[in-house]
Amino acid sequence: MVIMAISIIPKPNSVIEKDGHFTLDNKTTVVVESKLFQTVAEDFVNDIAVPTGFSTPIREAGKKNVIILREDASLAVEGYRLEVTPKNVIASASSPAGAFYALQTLRQLMPAKIYADVRVCDPVQWTAQCCVIEDAPRMGYRGMELDVCRYFYPKETVKKFIDMMAMHKQNYLQLHLTEDQAWRIEIKKYPRLTEIGAWRPETKGFNETGDGIRHGGYYTQDDIREIVDYAAHRFVTVIPEIELPGHSSAAIAAYPFLSCTPDEPKEVNTQWGIKEDVFCPSPETFKFLEDVFDEVLELFPSPYYHIGGDECPRTAWRNSDYCKKLASELGLESVDDLQYYFVKHFDKYLREKGKTVIGWDEILDGSAVKSTVVMSYRGHNPAIKAMNNDMKVILCPNRFTYYDYHQSEIRDTKKNHHLFITLRKAYNYNPTLFIGDSLMKVKGDHILGYQACLWGESIPDSRRLEHQTFPREACIAEFCWTDNEQRNFKDFCVRMLKEFKRLDACDIRYSDAFWDVIVNMSLETDYPREVELELDYPYARIHYTTDGSIPTAASPIAPASIMVNKGDVIKAQGFTPDGRPVGKLMTRKFENFEE
Ligand code: ACM
Repeated sequence: MVIMAISIIPKPNSVIEKDGHFTLDNKTTVVVESKLFQTVAEDFVNDIAVPTGFSTPIREAGKKNVIILREDASLAVEGYRLEVTPKNVIASASSPAGAFYALQTLRQLMPAKIYADVRVCDPVQWTAQCCVIEDAPRMGYRGMELDVCRYFYPKETVKKFIDMMAMHKQNYLQLHLTEDQAWRIEIKKYPRLTEIGAWRPETKGFNETGDGIRHGGYYTQDDIREIVDYAAHRFVTVIPEIELPGHSSAAIAAYPFLSCTPDEPKEVNTQWGIKEDVFCPSPETFKFLEDVFDEVLELFPSPYYHIGGDECPRTAWRNSDYCKKLASELGLESVDDLQYYFVKHFDKYLREKGKTVIGWDEILDGSAVKSTVVMSYRGHNPAIKAMNNDMKVILCPNRFTYYDYHQSEIRDTKKNHHLFITLRKAYNYNPTLFIGDSLMKVKGDHILGYQACLWGESIPDSRRLEHQTFPREACIAEFCWTDNEQRNFKDFCVRMLKEFKRLDACDIRYSDAFWDVIVNMSLETDYPREVELELDYPYARIHYTTDGSIPTAASPIAPASIMVNKGDVIKAQGFTPDGRPVGKLMTRKFENFEE
């Protein structure tokens, strides 16, 4: 396995490799030339103390065996320049974020165990390859979304998620805090939100029968402060998402007055899906939500606030005389546009507090509030509509960025979605193919950035969350950071070999689909069909059989494409150049069209 010395993810925009190494040892000091970088230096020293056991001092001057943090106002806000020589390391930046990213890159130049959260006892030389790196992100918004409602994850899980984002220079974490199946944030004025709303008697999920296990949990305001502060030290801004008007059953179960049918039975939902009991657009609901936001505003300094807005059935409003009267008084075209009434009100409320509101792309349906940012998840058409309407956009098209989908067609759980996004597909995402060159050229600057989403329906615990997130998180991170011309899947796969070692050091239980054969099929609607067998592990040979036998290193090597007939069976397996099998055996019988 050839592991490149410079295997940085996201790939820096310019790297010049030089001869020699810098070695971090117990005599190294960190020199902070500008007070601006004091906290970044302290955090770095604390981080590396764990695996190395070194207590690296921070000083104001020094020349030899030093890591210098230097202010350079000419560099881009989040950009940096990193010069590694045998004598010292100079990390230059114009902002603390830039210095932090320079030090992330320095850590990635070192042995992967620099990320271990225990003292590394085997004799490791903490060396970094000499080089000059000049780097800055392509996009300002480099995000991840985490649904903590379908299942609750402890705050330690959220912090570990943030660590990984920081390692890859991602900077926005959208926390999906409220749902039909749970309300996860303590609101002091409304204690029933967490007393009632954070718990469900059992989980039915996609089934009719439940597991009989009470599920729940929530973050106290102190927990939230801790997470937000932890993230801030890692230059990750946590965006709260408070869903309105739909996906609100847990709040309604706690406070039925929020519903159009307060006298009907309410429950924190045990099944996934879209629910019809949504917030009623009454003065009481608006006051409740304002109160909630007032407390949330104290906790999250984020410039962006997410108000949900997706999947809100209008049934309850259409059946409500109050809603019909209200819609007519407001001069709305129909009762359906009460969603606009919600969005407009809370956009104004939060804008007056200095916040920019984000909503899922349904906020474009009917009348749109132009000051909101559209999070385009149902493909790219909402993004196109928003850009043409001169609105700002964050893209997270489900087919490319919903990382709760499988990563391989060899399913490793029955519970998962039938859709799958391989590492290759996640990496090769190209929005211009969907948005078009001309709109990209004229209005590409309306795209603030991109985000991958981790919806929780199939992610019952922290380990499963790691499996779904990694290694694909590296794809969205590199997509957001690295210039288009610098990105290349083959090169990424070579760098992934060291990345897996880093993930191991971080004790991340990532998916191993990287070593599995993927079947890539042509879209013709009839047999014979053209099939390509692919494997991400860059040094693999794929051997295959068509007679049902198990392939060995002596079986034929898969050609660039294979024609298959209905009923054919292909078995394929990846092998290292020296003939050792990698990944799982792939068996595929070609029958009816499933795609
Ligand atoms: C969504 O996937 N409903 C935002």
